[in-house]
Amino acid sequence: MRQAGRYLPEYRAIREQHDFMQMCNTPELVVEVSLQPWRRFGMDAVIVFADILLIAAAMGPQLSFAKGHGPVFDRAIRGEQDVDSLARPEVEDALAPTLKSLSILRRELGDEAALLGFCGAPWTVAAYLVEGKGGSFSSLLEMKTKAPDLLKKLLAKITSASVDYVRAQAQRGVDAIQIFDTWGGLLTPSEYEEFSLPGMKSLVAAVQSSGAKPIVFIKDTQNFLPQLVQMGSSVVALGPDLPLAQAKEAFPGVALQGNLSPDILLQGPEATAQATQAMLNEMQDRFGYIVNLGHGVTPQVEPSAVEAMVDTVKRFCYPA
Ligand code: CP3
Repeated sequence: MRQAGRYLPEYRAIREQHDFMQMCNTPELVVEVSLQPWRRFGMDAVIVFADILLIAAAMGPQLSFAKGHGPVFDRAIRGEQDVDSLARPEVEDALAPTLKSLSILRRELGDEAALLGFCGAPWTVAAYLVEGKGGSFSSLLEMKTKAPDLLKKLLAKITSASVDYVRAQAQRGVDAIQIFDTWGGLLTPSEYEEFSLPGMKSLVAAVQSSGAKPIVFIKDTQNFLPQLVQMGSSVVALGPDLPLAQAKEAFPGVALQGNLSPDILLQGPEATAQATQAMLNEMQDRFGYIVNLGHGVTPQVEPSAVEAMVDTVKRFCYPA
């Protein structure tokens, strides 16, 4: 949940010197930035610094992150020819810097911390490819209505590339791989079953058969409880919209992750510690629970709030 990122001065210092894609493509920088939050706060897990859109760039379109803008591709994928033009990437080459970074991180962390890889849900990756950038995703929704079969062809292409990618990540010894369906909530539950669920199921199966644990995430969790169950994942990451009491009932027998709202961090360390404690109290009887945010840390958050969250968890779980 953007453990690394612009809320950290040590991240900003490196980011000022380098372009975002250049950072993602330089293993020394990836390793450094991935470890920064772990060194400062001592979480139990480190997530590799990368982006869900690297796989899309590996398929052809050029990706850039202009300061203050977010992701932009040099072309949008909307017609049949656009979809056909996308390559099936050799992930070992195209994503070599991320994969190499995972190997280094695994070696450096040993058993001291869990290592997480990740990828985007094919639906969410398609959202950016069709739009050519972030935003309202109106072109994606138009394609869903006017050219559903073409959209499914695009989703299948992203799925096969992503399956290769998660397998390659698993080979580097990651403990778990989080699959982010940030924009699943653009769909109704029945549309979700048609457009996003097939890709999610393929990725969950690929992670499981490679020996890592999948963690599935839809930011708008509330509307998709049965669909999340159907994915068959060992871990479900909850968005901030789902009350934990409801989550415990909806997902028997799976581990849960989440779901403090990142907005609480903006209220400072004391409010964050209190909210974290309330979450721990609520979940202490649950077998299999990973404390986390429900969505990414925003740049305005003070590091002291993240520290308060981590320290509250440590005091609770590892009393002196
Ligand atoms: O959590 C981590 O520390 C690991 C790295 C990570 C990043 N992006 C780095 C990043 C992860 C797990 C992601 C996932 C990601 N990327 C998602 C899914 C999770 C979610 O947030 O819902 C999505 C939708 C993206 C696409 C993306 N990347 C957007 C929309 C943006 C712009 C966001 C913004 O706040 O401007 C990014 C850029 C990005 N990816 C940053 C980081 C640290 C900030 C970039 C910068 O330094 O300029």
